[in-house]
Amino acid sequence: MKRIAVLTSGGDAPGMNAAVRAVVRTAFENEIEVYGVMGGYQGLLESDFISMDLRTVSNIIQRGGTILHSARSEEFKTMEGTLKARDVLEKYGIENVVVIGGDGTLAGGNRLAGTGVSVVGIPATIDNDVGCSDLTIGYDTAMNTVMSMVDRLRDTTEAHKRCSVVEVMGRDAGYIALNSGIAVGAVSILIPEVEYDIQRDVVDRMNRTLHYGKNHFIIIVAEGAGDSEKISKRIKEATGIETRLTVLGHVQRGGSPTVNDRVLGSQFGHEAIQLIKKINDKSSYALGYINKKIVSYPLEEALKIKKPMDMELYKVANEISI
Ligand code: F6P
Repeated sequence: MKRIAVLTSGGDAPGMNAAVRAVVRTAFENEIEVYGVMGGYQGLLESDFISMDLRTVSNIIQRGGTILHSARSEEFKTMEGTLKARDVLEKYGIENVVVIGGDGTLAGGNRLAGTGVSVVGIPATIDNDVGCSDLTIGYDTAMNTVMSMVDRLRDTTEAHKRCSVVEVMGRDAGYIALNSGIAVGAVSILIPEVEYDIQRDVVDRMNRTLHYGKNHFIIIVAEGAGDSEKISKRIKEATGIETRLTVLGHVQRGGSPTVNDRVLGSQFGHEAIQLIKKINDKSSYALGYINKKIVSYPLEEALKIKKPMDMELYKVANEISI
């Protein structure tokens, strides 16, 4: 019987559990044994395995976080650490590893692949910054969380005729900011991919909307777009409007996954096993969701793919926020 391992690594993302569940269930149907690795690559180094069967993944599809826990392992990033991980896999007779996480996780998988292990990567991060996939697990849920939080914020912002500056996650990417910014009707959206000028892109826009009768303002700042505290102060000084900063933080990573993330996680998990059934050498792949289809790329090539920011959408955001 073929034996594989599955792990989740890096920042957790809602929908990871759906992917783990699909891996385990599809593997069962194909007579493949699955070890769950607790705590990402660090758990792999420590041989922290659990044996997974149909019932270990019951009642998890609706849960945020990851039942396999997650970590960012410094030891695994060293050559010694990666070789140790390979030795552990060999010792336990594990032929393929499914790694679920963001670009750091896939890069880690690629290092492991370099030592002769067959790896299948599944893109999962709220940041949506994985080049080989239009969508990543967790992104949809995070955007919906931002939307519902900012909807609440708008009530009090409007009641006090204030400006709310909202910092959202995304590391160096502005996908969450751009899409949730449109969804909450932000006057201005600042993202790392587009150079901005506070006077022109925030203050002047606010003054223009003031002129047309608007009396409260939502400004979305991606965490990678600059110091939101400074931005907030500048806005207050330049407009005289009472301004408050809200940093949404890790609340964006939690919560029950949306339909889209549950389905995407399930599709990815299912496809990972279909691929593993076909792999009879040591090759490695990353899955992606491109034009509404699940696809796969050789892992090394997948990591080279760049995803451009949707500038058409950015234009839409600017033109409708008057
Ligand atoms: O990659 C997901 C993410 O939530 C980013 O948006 C954020 O920059 C980072 O992780 C935060 O990492 P940590 O949970 O280690 O503070």
